[in-house]
Order: sequence, then structure tokens, then C-alpha cells
Amino acid sequence: MRQAYKDRILILDFGSQTTQLIARRAREAGVYCEIYPYTMDLSEIRKFAPKGIILSGGPSSVTEKDAPMSDTRLFDLGIPVLGICYGMQLMAYQLGGEVCSSETREYGRTCLDLLETSDLFASLDKEAGSSDSNPLMVWMSHGDRIERLPSGFEVIASSKNTPVAAIRNKEKKLYGVQFHPEVVHTPQGGVILRNFLFNICGCVPGWTVRAFIENTIRDIRETVGDKRVVCAMSGGVDSSVVAMLLHRAIGDRLTSIFIDNGLLRKDEAREVRSIFCDHFKLNLRYVDASEIFLERLTGVADPEAKRKIIGRTFIEVFEKEARRIGDVEFLAQGTLYPDVIESVSFKGPSATIKTHHNVGGLPDNMRLKLIEPLRELFKDEVRRVGRELGLPSSIIDRHPFPGPGLAIRILGPVTRKNLAILREADAIVTEELIKHDYYNRVWQGFAVLLPIRSVGVMGDERTYEHVVGLRIVESLDAMTADWSRIPYSILADISNRLINEVKGINRVVYDISSKPPSTIEWE
Ligand code: XMP
Repeated sequence: MRQAYKDRILILDFGSQTTQLIARRAREAGVYCEIYPYTMDLSEIRKFAPKGIILSGGPSSVTEKDAPMSDTRLFDLGIPVLGICYGMQLMAYQLGGEVCSSETREYGRTCLDLLETSDLFASLDKEAGSSDSNPLMVWMSHGDRIERLPSGFEVIASSKNTPVAAIRNKEKKLYGVQFHPEVVHTPQGGVILRNFLFNICGCVPGWTVRAFIENTIRDIRETVGDKRVVCAMSGGVDSSVVAMLLHRAIGDRLTSIFIDNGLLRKDEAREVRSIFCDHFKLNLRYVDASEIFLERLTGVADPEAKRKIIGRTFIEVFEKEARRIGDVEFLAQGTLYPDVIESVSFKGPSATIKTHHNVGGLPDNMRLKLIEPLRELFKDEVRRVGRELGLPSSIIDRHPFPGPGLAIRILGPVTRKNLAILREADAIVTEELIKHDYYNRVWQGFAVLLPIRSVGVMGDERTYEHVVGLRIVESLDAMTADWSRIPYSILADISNRLINEVKGINRVVYDISSKPPSTIEWE
């Protein structure tokens, strides 16, 4: 697939938290790029044939024993290189310069004096500063500094604490910046990266949503030939985009299987069928497996046990359905680029906090070949592709919903009665967020049914009913999240409606915990 994009950038990862941001900035500029570990073999690099290479930052110091090093021959390939933070120090060190640990760490915003503005620092907004009298604001995070430049290099920017804040070897097109142009705290960072991509590497932008769709459809047709493909459709944005791409490519030779596990949101199954069967005419099999899921969940209170039962049952039902279609050779999955990077990264796996059951996570023993059309995309790109394919906002902009569904929002055992209460409550939360124009401002907003009951009074009657927890969070990627400071008036409307309209609820509380240390879902 990558061959479809003539001008490609290679990003070598040295373990920075912001490596993915470099890739996103390049993609935003319309340039295709991929991230690989710094250990990538020189022959592989040649095969990738990048127009430019970016060395990311990283937590190490080149002065340490066993510091991560790239192959020094990288700098002799005749391909422009930009080293960022650790990447710049590494370049200086490997090419014969001297790097020392600095007494003072520089962390946060810093003003930079630009000494040379003809290439990397060209066309910067004067407002944001590009002269001595009005220096450029950048974001730094480093302990080491370059003491002596390698031969052929010159300093092109400096700051008060960092005399060597940016360097270049113009002839060899080797550049280094001590700051992070990829983060938002470097307001002109996008311009600096685009200068590298376009002025220095000579890239022509070719990465557009439309080009992606055309290339992917062509690729799928080539791979699949006249065979059949199956995919699990959840109605979430990733599986919907996968199904739409395959449908465009091979029509009815794709069978999408939608499994109703009885744990879905109000009207969800009906809406998915109406959009994909009635409107887009996908070959979609609706499987009502709610009986079997609910039966297996009876009396189960432990969150991990619930997750495992739901995950196993999903696979079982899916396999049975897929076998019924017969003669299937491929399984399409909605794997995204961050999952791919995670699996090639040199960082170790993190501890399992929750067993995630994803619709895509199907077993290897099905002996189906995998098709993963989204494996080069970030989530925001998937949304853009979905929009271009004509998917409605109700699919594209819908809040994330976990694979185990409402089961992990009912604390304690799942019963049909509790499901009915939570389903109504969840629908009200969503309706109110939309009505108050807040739905798209938050990452997720939902209700959680607590296993405790409290006393209330309705009319002259005593009530003894459930408490509902409201969870409304803001987040960029679900790795961290903060509770939304949503206006009280909206909370009041939600609470009123929940207590008045949903039989079985007489109290509402608002969850004010952030992630970490809490998680977004309660189980
Ligand atoms: P937590 O609760 O771990 O959730 O902070 C982070 C994000 O992941 C979603 N989530 C899941 N998504 N399968 C999924 O596809 C799961 O099993 C699952 N569990 C949590 C959650 O809604 C939040 O967006």
C-alpha cells in the first residue's frame, strides 16, 4: 500500500511520548509516513525509500552506556534527516560532535533566537517571532546539550540555556532541533515540519482521504480476487468504515455479521440495520444472540469474569455464523495504526488493567487470512474516511462504546430488568447532551447503574430505588481523561429526567474522578 504514495517519510522512534504526533503532523500536511523502531535495518530503510527521515526524541541520553543508536550509515544515504531532541543529539554524537549532560534541565516553553532563516526556519509568522527582538516560542524538554558540533555543521538557532538549539549541515541536508516542533506548545512547529517536508525533502503531498479510499479499494480487489470476506460489524466507526470500504470494493462478496448481545444501547440494533441494510445495501447478517449472552451472565458480578464470558461468547457465535456462510477466505478487521505501532514498538507491554474485548479481536484458529484496511490510519483519519464514504454523523461522531456494552456499566450481576433501566437512562443522557449542544464537546457521557438503593420520596410515597452514576469525561485518546466541568443546568436537566422518567431510579450522582487513577468505565 505504501508504494501508492510516492513521497514517503520514515520516522525512527527512540521512545518519545510524542513520536505519534510527528506522524500526525506529517499526515496533516498530506505526506505519507510510517513509524519504525530505531533498530530498523539499513536494507529495510533503503527498501522503504523515504524522501526524508525523522529521528524522534526519546528518554535516553547519548552519554549513557547502551543508549539507543541508529546505524551511522543512515547519514550517508543522501536522504535528508531531521533529528528532534534526542534525535539531534544522536546525530551530533554519531557524526563526531560532543554531547554533555547539562547542569540545568530545560523544560517547557522557551524563546529561541533564529540565526538562519533560509530553509528550516523559512516563512515563519513574524507575529510569532523570527528575529532577535521577537524570538520564536518553542517547547523544550531535555537535560543534555551539544558542546561541540560535528564538522560541516553550523548553529541555526539558540536559546538562553541552550546555545546549540538547532543545527544543520546544509550540503548533506542534515538538520537537528533541540525543541519539539510536533507539539502544540510550539505554535510554529507545523510550519517548521512542513519546511522540512517540502523545502528540504522536496515532498509533494499525495496523502488525501480520497487517494486513500481509491488505493485501498484497488488493493482490496487485488488481494481478495474472487474470494469471499467476512467481517464483524458493531456499528462503531472503525468496523463501519471497514465494512463500507470492502463493500465498495467487492460488494456482496463481503458478509458483515452484526451480533446483538443483548447489551446494546437503546435502538442501536435497529439503527445499524436501517443504515447498513436499508440505506447502503450491505450484505449484513443480524444475529440475535441476546439469550445466550444473558444466560451466561446470570449471577456473575466480577467485572473480569463478565468481560471474559462476553468475549468468549462473541467469538463462539461469530465462528458459528461465519461457518454457515461457507467458503470464506478472508476476515476483515478494524486494526488502527496506533495498535500497529504498539506491536512493533520496542517498549514492553503494559500491565493488563482490563481485558479489552474488541469486535476486531477474533481468534487465529479460524484460519482466515486477515485484511486490515485501516492499519495505516489514526482515529481522526478513520473519521474523515468515514465522512467521505457518506456515513452519517450518528455513526462517525458517536461516543466510543465498549465491546462488553452495558454489562460493564451495571455494577454487579446483569439482569434484564437492570438492562432496561440503564438503557433508558443512557438514552436520556445522550439526548440531553445533544440537546444542550454538549455531546460533541465531550469524549464520552453515559450512565452507570449502581448496585445500591437509597430511600427517596415521590408524591407522598416512600421509594427505595437505584442510584445512577453519571460519567461525563473529556479526553484526547482515552489514555487519560478528566471529568467534564459540565454546566450545572445540564446536570440538573439530566437528573430531573432520569428520576422522573425512568422507573427504578430515585437518585443521581456525578462522578468527579479523573483517569488515572480511575478509569473511564466503572468496570
Ligand atoms: P477505560 O475504562 O479503560 O476505557 O478507561 C478507555 C476507553 O476504552 C473503552 N473501553 C473499551 N472499548 N472494548 C472496547 O472496544 C472494551 O472492552 C472496552 N473497555 C473500555 C472505554 O469506553 C473508553 O473509551
